[in-house]
Amino acid sequence: MSHSTPTSQPATPRPERARRHRQLPPGPSWHTAAWNTVRFARQRLRFLQELRERYGDLVTRPSVLGPWTLVFHPDGVRHVLQENHFNYRKGGISNKSLSRTLGNGLLTNNGDSWLHQRRLIQPAFHRERLAAFGRLMTESALAWIEEESLDTRQPLDLFQEMSGLTLSIVGKALFGTDMLAHKERVLQATTTINQLLAQSFYVPGLLSLPTPQRHRLYEARNTVYTIVDELIAKRRQASTENDLLTMLLQARDEKTGEGMTDQQVRDEVLTLMVAGHETTTNALCWTFLLLSQHPHIESRLREEYQQVLGGRAAQMEDLPQLKLSRMVLEESMRLYPPAWAFARSAIAEDEINGYIIPKGAYVLVFPATTHRHPDFWERPDVFDPERFSPERTAGRHRFAYFPFGGGPRVCIGNQFALIEAQLILATVLSRCQFRLLPGANVVPEPLITLRPRGKLLMTIHRQGG
Ligand code: HEM
Repeated sequence: MSHSTPTSQPATPRPERARRHRQLPPGPSWHTAAWNTVRFARQRLRFLQELRERYGDLVTRPSVLGPWTLVFHPDGVRHVLQENHFNYRKGGISNKSLSRTLGNGLLTNNGDSWLHQRRLIQPAFHRERLAAFGRLMTESALAWIEEESLDTRQPLDLFQEMSGLTLSIVGKALFGTDMLAHKERVLQATTTINQLLAQSFYVPGLLSLPTPQRHRLYEARNTVYTIVDELIAKRRQASTENDLLTMLLQARDEKTGEGMTDQQVRDEVLTLMVAGHETTTNALCWTFLLLSQHPHIESRLREEYQQVLGGRAAQMEDLPQLKLSRMVLEESMRLYPPAWAFARSAIAEDEINGYIIPKGAYVLVFPATTHRHPDFWERPDVFDPERFSPERTAGRHRFAYFPFGGGPRVCIGNQFALIEAQLILATVLSRCQFRLLPGANVVPEPLITLRPRGKLLMTIHRQGG
């Protein structure tokens, strides 16, 4: 594989040499495995950036759980996710941990079973369905603003608020049910799951042995199981809705004529519910935070809303005109990609840029690091939505920016998420302003998703109120 975009890799051996010697990618030595694991646990984002700066775009990282292959260059990312995707399956520690809670849904499944389920679920995200969801998204955002509590000028935890909103949208859109009644329980459970799964990447045995953490994980998982099982049982009794849940329940295998078991349906519903609200929540929270820190961009955005919408509620048809809004969202997901890292397992030995990727290697890609790669992004840490103008986007490497992944396993909900985030942003920002509490310092916490650490306390002021 050759790099189409020139890069400088001072500390990395030349590819020709690597090819001759059939080397593993460079990286810290094995006797630092324990220390490396501690650094990864404590300062994931900074540590990854340091590894890239020191060892180059392809790194072998020793860890107490075995070697990890870290892929930072967009060419390498494209190779793993798209060009040679047949050789890279969902596997390794992250998939094992995720399957403990989400079962064998679309996110963790592999092979023919994954393809079968993906084809079955895909129509729920077709364009005409999304148009109907668009109305629901705007109405839900308006209803949230109307809630009395928003008038109080008391600080609110924006993460909690956005989680409730996105959970309610995904519940209504895909499963014809309002999840609001379960909001607190689902949010608490997903936070626990998120934290414990992230810990399991650096604490060996945390979830495979009967530890207190595993007990807590299973408790959290059982909470969401109960909610999802109730939903499925109700729908089996009376299926009037024409939504994804009914489709899943009515699906029959072409050859055997058999339907899905309750367990399979539960895994798919749970996966979509969790993957479908937590990520969009993070995208929205980081966007609101960045705007509050860049008031000049926020004012330009309000002008755009005023010009295009003139005070009426945004609809899906307005989105092509809301150009700055889209660029702001894209730039926010560049700096803070909600799915900041994800992984594959190599089925057979492979080669990337002259280095050996051994059979069974645990291979990770990091939107959080590649999105700030200085060879592809000027002043990578600066919030500059204009980077996503058509002129500046033209010619950019497709995998320099991949918040939704790529290749056949690209996020099934990417259009849903983009429409939802833009409609919520336009509806809410045209009517409200968010401000951080004085002195508050928000830092990212890279769990399974990239969240703001702790609560995201902001005051919310109605515009003109
Ligand atoms: C800003 C919001 C979102 C982001 C950043 C995001 C990101 C991603 C990424 C990076 C992947 C690929 C992971 C990999 O290759 O290992 C993925 C997969 C997936 N996402 Fe999303 N996602 C978002 C919203 C959604 C929504 C709204 C839904 C559903 C309603 C959803 C459902 C899924 C599912 C089911 C998969 C697995 C697809 C497969 O492997 O076939 N996501 N997402």
